[in-house]
Amino acid sequence: MASADKREHLYKVLVIGDLGVGKTSIIKRYVHQFFSPHYRATIGVDFALKVLNWDQSTLVRLQLWDIAGQERYGNMTRVYYKEAVGAFIVFDVTRAATFEAVQKWKNDLDSKVTLPNGKPVPCVLLANKCDQAKEGLVNSKPQMDEYCREKGFVDWYETSAKENVNIDDAAKSLVTKILENDESNEWEQDSEVVPLDAKQTTQKTGDGCSC
Ligand code: GTP
Ligand code: MG
Repeated sequence: MASADKREHLYKVLVIGDLGVGKTSIIKRYVHQFFSPHYRATIGVDFALKVLNWDQSTLVRLQLWDIAGQERYGNMTRVYYKEAVGAFIVFDVTRAATFEAVQKWKNDLDSKVTLPNGKPVPCVLLANKCDQAKEGLVNSKPQMDEYCREKGFVDWYETSAKENVNIDDAAKSLVTKILENDESNEWEQDSEVVPLDAKQTTQKTGDGCSC
């Protein structure tokens, strides 16, 4: 297929979660295939672009918004979340407190942004640093599955930015959901045209009768 026939999508995706859980590291690994053991806290927000040749006819550009963990205590998240169509919430498997914060991030997200159709922004949960010893609920897969169903996550993955575990798969899962939502949104917009046309036709018929 010629490149001119490709459909291109640009999607804004948020990466949120507590301080030091590995958001920047996950993005660096995903976009640049790079990992550093040194911690430099993100200030405010950073950006990265990942281009995916999704299939023969679809190109997806993911605009990743790497939001500093400390922003949960500020009031800028409403601005950062605007027009996002997907999100990753990240926690650190070695620190159970970062898992407790997941609910807070999810509430913050759902209270400040929705899709154009009013539905919540699809969100994938990342249990990062799985190359290290785990603490808490993350040790039980059934309980984590249940947690995600209850809290409305699309799915969850154990990830390691250090060893490049599951990051591509987690992104695939989120992009699949985003594309699904986008297609059903287009369909809803198309179907809105039908009743309008139908109404016009009825009116025209009425006009015809009065002549
Ligand atoms: P803020 O910007 O402060 O919100 O933090 P962040 O979530 O962006 O964390 P960052 O990516 O800076 O990582 C924090 C520390 O964890 C760094 O020292 C990373 O090297 C380390 N780290 C990140 N991911 C992993 C991982 O998968 N495994 C291990 N072992 N360490 C990791
Ligand atoms: Mg960071």
